[in-house]
Amino acid sequence: MLKDIDKILAEARNFQSVSPDEIEEYRIRYLGRKGIIAALFEEFRSVPPVEKRVYGSKINELKDFVTSHVNNLRSISGSQTTDRTEKDLTLPGYPLEPGTRHPVSIVRNEIINIFSRQGFTISEGPEIEDDWHVFSALNFPEEHPARDMQDTFFIEKNPDILLRTHTSSVQVRVMEKQQPPIRTISPGRVFRNEAISARAHCIFHQIEGLYVDKNVSFADLKQILLFFARELFGEDTQIRLRPSFFPFTEPSAEMDISCKICSGKGCNVCKYTGWLEILGCGMVHPNVLENCHIDSNRFSGYAFGMGIERVAMLKYEVRDLRLYFENDIRFLKQFTPVF
Ligand code: PHE
Repeated sequence: MLKDIDKILAEARNFQSVSPDEIEEYRIRYLGRKGIIAALFEEFRSVPPVEKRVYGSKINELKDFVTSHVNNLRSISGSQTTDRTEKDLTLPGYPLEPGTRHPVSIVRNEIINIFSRQGFTISEGPEIEDDWHVFSALNFPEEHPARDMQDTFFIEKNPDILLRTHTSSVQVRVMEKQQPPIRTISPGRVFRNEAISARAHCIFHQIEGLYVDKNVSFADLKQILLFFARELFGEDTQIRLRPSFFPFTEPSAEMDISCKICSGKGCNVCKYTGWLEILGCGMVHPNVLENCHIDSNRFSGYAFGMGIERVAMLKYEVRDLRLYFENDIRFLKQFTPVF
C-alpha cells in the first residue's frame, strides 16, 4: 500500500493545467467524496496498528500536496488573460446609483445652517429624560394633560423616567449649566404616545431654539422667525403669529407661513386659508428662568420649536408623514443626491 501512495503522489505532482475545468476535475478525482484520498482513508482503517503512523502521514502528505497544488493552479489560471475573448471590455459598467440623504436630514441640516449663521450653537441631550427636564422645570402644572400616560411613554413604570416629548428638555439642561447670553438650537428625536396616521407619529424630530439675554423682546423673536421662514421657503414668504398657549412661554404664539402652493390664494393643502401652521413660540416664562437659576429680573428670552417632518412635508409637498419612516427606496431617492 505504501508503494501505491508514492505512485499516486508522483502522478498528482505531474498534473499541470490552466484550464479551470481540468483543475476542477483533478480536484474531484483526488479530494472528492468518492475520490482517491477518501478511498485511501477507508483502506487505512484496516491497516495494523503498528503501521498506522507511517501510512497516516503519507496520506496526509498527499492530501496537503493536492490541496495546495489546486490552489496554485487556480491562481495561475485566474491571472491568465486568456478569457479576454470571452469578455467584452467595451461594455458599459454596472450603473451605481449615488446615495441620497434622508429628507428629514436634509431639512434638519438646512434649518441648523440658517440658525448657525445667526450665531446659534447646537446642543443635544438625552432621549430618556426625567420629569424635571421635560415637564416640571418647564412650568407644567402637576395635572397637565401632557404628562398623562396617553401622551408620554414612561420607562419601567417609573413615572419619573420617560422618553422626552420635546427637545425643550435640552434647553433646560443648557440653562442649568450656563448663564446668559444663551443662543442655542436643539435638534433631536422625540416620542409621543400617539396613534400613527398621515399627520401624526409616535416618533418624530424637532428643532427648538432658545435665546436668553438682557432685553430680549418679542420683536427679536418675530425678526428671527421671519428671517428663518424666508431663508427656508423663499424671499416672498409671509408669516403671521396667532396667540396660543404653552406652559413655558408667556405670551405664546403659533406661527403660520403663507401657503407657497397657492401663494395665499387658497388651495386644498392650506385648506383654503392661505396659511400653513409651522411652529410654536413665545417669550420664556419667568418661572422657567428661575427654575434654571437665571435671574428673571435681569434676563428675558424667547423660544420656538418645530417638527422637522412637518417642515419637510410643507417643503416637499408630501401629504403623508408615514413615508418618512418607511424607508421605501422609491420615495427616498427622489431627494437631492449628495456628491
Ligand atoms: N415644545 C413645544 C412643542 O413640543 C414647542 C415650543 C417650543 C413652543 C418653544 C413654544 C416655545 O410643541
